[in-house]
Amino acid sequence: MTVRINPSILAADFANFERELGRISTADLVHVDIMDNHFVPNLTFGPPMVKRLQELSAIPLDIHLMIDDPDHWAPGYAELGAYSVTFHAEAARDAVALARTLRRLGARAGIALKPGTPVDDYLELLPEFDQVLVMTVEPGFGGQSFMQSTMPKLASLRRTVDAAGLDVWLQVDGGVTLETITVARDAGADTFVAGSSVFAGEPAEQIAALRAAAEGGHSH
Ligand code: DX5
Ligand code: ZN
Repeated sequence: MTVRINPSILAADFANFERELGRISTADLVHVDIMDNHFVPNLTFGPPMVKRLQELSAIPLDIHLMIDDPDHWAPGYAELGAYSVTFHAEAARDAVALARTLRRLGARAGIALKPGTPVDDYLELLPEFDQVLVMTVEPGFGGQSFMQSTMPKLASLRRTVDAAGLDVWLQVDGGVTLETITVARDAGADTFVAGSSVFAGEPAEQIAALRAAAEGGHSH
């Protein structure tokens, strides 16, 4: 199985993104958390920062929008050339129309679900998306603990994706460590966001260790 390790620069040194991006160049994508202080009670950055990060990064950007009104704001990130743009199901007015717009603009289209949001309504819409992000913490902050209670959603998604032969990446975000990554992998995830666990140590070593754990045999 192909696994992807996407470090979240929410856990990086905000005063030195050029150096921090250099330390994660062996990862697959750079996960960029956009927070608007409305959809979540935290504030990060917006399009000008994304534009600059894209110029500096050796690997593509995986944009995670934790913002209200993604129908209005998300296309701008695709227009900047972001590789992947993921918006929250809870915030979107018309998720399918927005995903189609993102794809038309050349980005991969992703939809994210908060821990309490059921997946059922989205299973039949999976062909409209390139990625589903199952949040494994409440969005807003790094350094929280992985919520095992979200794993059944991942299993439903994996069953549906495989049964229909779809190419939809299943991403987890929040509390991903060397221990929890195998839990998420066993439930069906193939794309792993990790903030604290990458930047707490030497990032290249952490990325390699997370990749090896995710690629290893099933733990049960
Ligand atoms: C949380 C963000 C995550 C965050 C994960 O709202 O979406 O991407 O950076 O951080 P860790 O890996 O520390 O849980
Ligand atoms: Zn995120």
